[in-house]
Amino acid sequence: MPAVVISGKEVASEIRQELKKKVEELKGKDIHPGLGVILVGEDPASVSYVTSKAKGCEEIGIHEETIRLQADASEEEVLNLIEKMNNDKKFSGILVQLPLPKHIDEEKIVNAITPEKDVDGFHPVNQGLLLRGEKCPLPCTAHGAQQMLMRSGNDPAGKHVVICGRSNIVGKPLAAMLMQKKEGANATVTVVHTGTKDAAQYTRQADILVAAMGKPQAITADMVKDGAVVIDVGVNRIEDSTKKKGFRLVGDVDYDPISEKASYITPVPGGVGPMTVTMLLYNTVESAELIAKK
Ligand code: GUN
Repeated sequence: MPAVVISGKEVASEIRQELKKKVEELKGKDIHPGLGVILVGEDPASVSYVTSKAKGCEEIGIHEETIRLQADASEEEVLNLIEKMNNDKKFSGILVQLPLPKHIDEEKIVNAITPEKDVDGFHPVNQGLLLRGEKCPLPCTAHGAQQMLMRSGNDPAGKHVVICGRSNIVGKPLAAMLMQKKEGANATVTVVHTGTKDAAQYTRQADILVAAMGKPQAITADMVKDGAVVIDVGVNRIEDSTKKKGFRLVGDVDYDPISEKASYITPVPGGVGPMTVTMLLYNTVESAELIAKK
């Protein structure tokens, strides 16, 4: 039987409705979530991400300001802006769109954001809190993947989750999240990466398989157990002369044959992608509430 498709658009829309209500409630208590975004340069993918973040904020009633700097802006300029936003009560969240131009040290920039406004969850303090199982903003894509599991009735508790990829923004935080003794977690987690010998030996054991390597269609049907839940985090462009743009988007899994074998699967596009911005909105609302309680 073909797999049930978990629609990221639907799950994201459900969460956005919840957030909209929450924002109204908070405003009634004079708490106003706000997101400050810094974009350096004009990389088309970054411009498109930033636009969808601004739209998302508008949709749920969050104040949003995007500061656009020229591609040759100095590191000091960016650091000064962050310092201003750190001290500005209008912003409960700050996001610097990555990647940054090469002359700017990304680590220095991420570390300059005050951890309580770090709505990406990239600051080392938040990474440490996550590993310890303490409250912190969760990295948005990893959190989005967890929400898709929970809201499709696939609680990872007691399951074997195999994560392919060990990036700081998806693989590692998702592994840390799902191994916690907490609701929505409590899984046995295996992380497969480029240093793994015979990755298929592990992926075939997965009750829940997460593909987050950034390699188009690298997970093939023979690597997936019958009835597995498959979460595809990859978004890759591959050449396709039948398309107007000359390319199409595919994930890290070979979708058609795997969807015949899996019990649940996320599509690309329309899967984990729409969840990332939604969880960013979630973090912005949460941080406004936490800052107000201090
Ligand atoms: N660039 C691509 N994805 C992201 C993201 O989630 N956060 C930031 N800050 N930059 C990105």
